[in-house]
Amino acid sequence: METCKPSPIPLCEPNLNGREKQYMAEAVDSNWLSGGSFLRRFEQQLADYTGAAHVIGVSNGTSALQVALTLAGVEKGDLVLVPDLTFVATANAVKYLGADPLMIDIDSRTWLMDLDLLQDFLENQTYQNSGGCFYCGNHRRISAIIPVHLLGNVCEMERLNTLAARFALEVVEDAACSLGSFRNGRHSGTSGLLGTMSFNSNKIITTAGGGAILTNDDRLAKRARHLITQAKSHATEYLHDELGYNFRLVNPLAAMGCGQMEQLSGFVQRKKQIAAYYQSEFSDYELSFQQLTPGTDSNHWHSAMLISESRELIAALAAENIETRPLWTPIHALPLFSQDLYISLEDVSSDVSQRGIMLPCSTSISDEQLLRVSQTIGKFLGIKV
Ligand SMILES: Cc1ncc(COP(=O)(O)O)c(C=O)c1O
Repeated sequence: METCKPSPIPLCEPNLNGREKQYMAEAVDSNWLSGGSFLRRFEQQLADYTGAAHVIGVSNGTSALQVALTLAGVEKGDLVLVPDLTFVATANAVKYLGADPLMIDIDSRTWLMDLDLLQDFLENQTYQNSGGCFYCGNHRRISAIIPVHLLGNVCEMERLNTLAARFALEVVEDAACSLGSFRNGRHSGTSGLLGTMSFNSNKIITTAGGGAILTNDDRLAKRARHLITQAKSHATEYLHDELGYNFRLVNPLAAMGCGQMEQLSGFVQRKKQIAAYYQSEFSDYELSFQQLTPGTDSNHWHSAMLISESRELIAALAAENIETRPLWTPIHALPLFSQDLYISLEDVSSDVSQRGIMLPCSTSISDEQLLRVSQTIGKFLGIKV
């Protein structure tokens, strides 16, 4: 006899129940496709929400990082400090520039770059001269640092910025996951020289594919727009004054973003409820959740927890048609980055990665579905206890 599979609970699906389709149709009808009024409106909505002086829509979060690092002055042969636990795009963007990432292990509570370890590294393994900061091990310049606000938790930017200034490093914040996350009243991605965002389909708002560069610097904002439009230097003639990219966000996708922005505060509220639910359900168990840095008001973009038998739990949930994922593989463990330097005392990132599991957290998830997820986890834990 055929057994009936329970209905699927997806990991994190887009929620397009606002005016997205209406705005996209308007954008298409206007015949303004590459640029247009929805792109300007979306950029302004993001600027108003985050408090950034300038927001530049781009094709995705990875291209945003690539351009931001270029604007920050990262050059071929440089080293760029990145947390060891992040999505690969952070480190890939460094490689695109002919530079290499230098991975710093994460803090076991916040899962963000360990700032004690960073400080110790900068104080004891680098030197400075008029050309900048250099790694003692190979005399390569360290030009920038990319704090990543992982899963919505915001790095302690005051401390990080102070260290960066002391060691002549430019700061590019990877805020791909943290639209809606604030720390001490300041939106993530607006404390460094530049910040970047992603609107990939699993993010808190989506434009299917898209991203943004944030900055308070007028000159950098102008140059960002120039670089993402093939560095075209003349209004009508095809003159290009440097190596540019075709990285613009297109108008119909920005229209989707406008519809999404209208719902952002509701999305953040639901994400917070989901995170609070998981944490309260499993407060008695030996499961760990990410701890927020002091002062952080997280968007809780993605609920995740640590459990020793993470792969077995993923399989048990999959058997009930509940989709989960492991946390990202640490950068140092990926073959492409195996020759790059990894600063660590206890390899916390591998531990968090091995025990990490990303839980279903679509903004459209129902309370009944949340209950089904927690009951399935509870059953798994019951068997194990
Ligand atoms: C931390 C982080 N950085 C960068 C990116 C890249 O963004 P995109 O997929 O829009 O290129 C992502 C996307 O998932 C991310 O999670």
